[in-house]
Amino acid sequence: MNLFDVYPLYNITPVKGEGCHVYDDEGKKYLDLYGGHAVISIGHSHPSYVKAVQEQVQKLGFYSNSIKNPLQDELAEKLLQVSGLENYKLFLCNSGAEANENALKLASFHTGKSRVIYFKNAFHGRTSGAVAVTDNESIKAPFNKAHEVTCLAFEDVSGLEKELSKGDVAGVIVEIIQGVGGLDEASTEFYQATANLCSKYNAVLLADEVQSGYGRTGDFFAFQKHQISPDIISVAKGMGNGFPIGGILISSKFEAKHGLLGTTFGGNHLACAAGIAVLDVIENENLMQNAAEIFQFVKEKAAEIPQIKQVKGRGLMLGLEFDFEVASLRKDLLFEHQIFTGAASNKKLLRILPPLSIQKGHFEQFFSALKSELKNQ
Ligand SMILES: Cc1ncc(COP(=O)(O)O)c(C=O)c1O
Repeated sequence: MNLFDVYPLYNITPVKGEGCHVYDDEGKKYLDLYGGHAVISIGHSHPSYVKAVQEQVQKLGFYSNSIKNPLQDELAEKLLQVSGLENYKLFLCNSGAEANENALKLASFHTGKSRVIYFKNAFHGRTSGAVAVTDNESIKAPFNKAHEVTCLAFEDVSGLEKELSKGDVAGVIVEIIQGVGGLDEASTEFYQATANLCSKYNAVLLADEVQSGYGRTGDFFAFQKHQISPDIISVAKGMGNGFPIGGILISSKFEAKHGLLGTTFGGNHLACAAGIAVLDVIENENLMQNAAEIFQFVKEKAAEIPQIKQVKGRGLMLGLEFDFEVASLRKDLLFEHQIFTGAASNKKLLRILPPLSIQKGHFEQFFSALKSELKNQ
């Protein structure tokens, strides 16, 4: 059987990972400044993570959500401790799209309404509702287009109030820093106005922290900088360091009811063991602080390069905006210098999403490769 060919592939076959590096099947070493789409939070094959997953699979890999699983409570407790967020409850699932899908569903259950507001350039995943609130018509099937949704621009407070005042909006979903869209972030005033308007018009504020959460920005969640308290927060990517796990943090205004949400695989023993190990490492190795410190270093180094027009994002969720389209630069960094970077819908943006354990020396290597490529342009 052949694979259903939906991914454009680089001709590289990684077979091993270690910290901030991956190795291909010929033993070639690559610096990973992309973390496989922002997934690798604590570094490839971190020893304590490997040990935790190995030990758990030897004991019990999976049982259904119809039995007690104390690992879920331990993960929820640890999440509270490391994120500093109180008064939220945790529902576990398997991916970012599934987290958003459940968040949207819960907003609709809670308010009895169905329309959802999202923002220009947003990406929230590929399941039915999540893709309906994603700003990319080419990945929406007619089936997805049946949802009632409205797209607005960041900073359009009056447009937001106009839509919310119609009374049919269940929720507003937002990536505090946009990932795929190109690292744009609205102002604190806008996020605070959005939160106030949501509570005024009985709509749910959903923060999609699938990419920006789990310490990536130097804060545990990107919204924490703006002093808002979203009603629902979705998480995934960095949560399992590659093990598929996602979740939503649900504020105390929502009431749980048996059967309201559910999943077969979500919150399984192995996923929880991976999730707990990730939080332990983030805490014990001060990875949020490292993300904030390395960010300062990257900004200083980027300022030395005239072709970089802007450093977008925060912490280790970064976009370097050049004065030219970067597709061929990315290819050269990968094939000439063995450095993985990412792309965005803004074609002039090089996305940088490394493991949170990355060190200055890794970025020195990157900037020297970048300088030598820019000389050749
Ligand atoms: C902000 C955001 N939300 C949701 C998703 C979807 O996550 P997944 O691919 O795990 O379904 C992504 C994936 O890139 C994302 O960046």
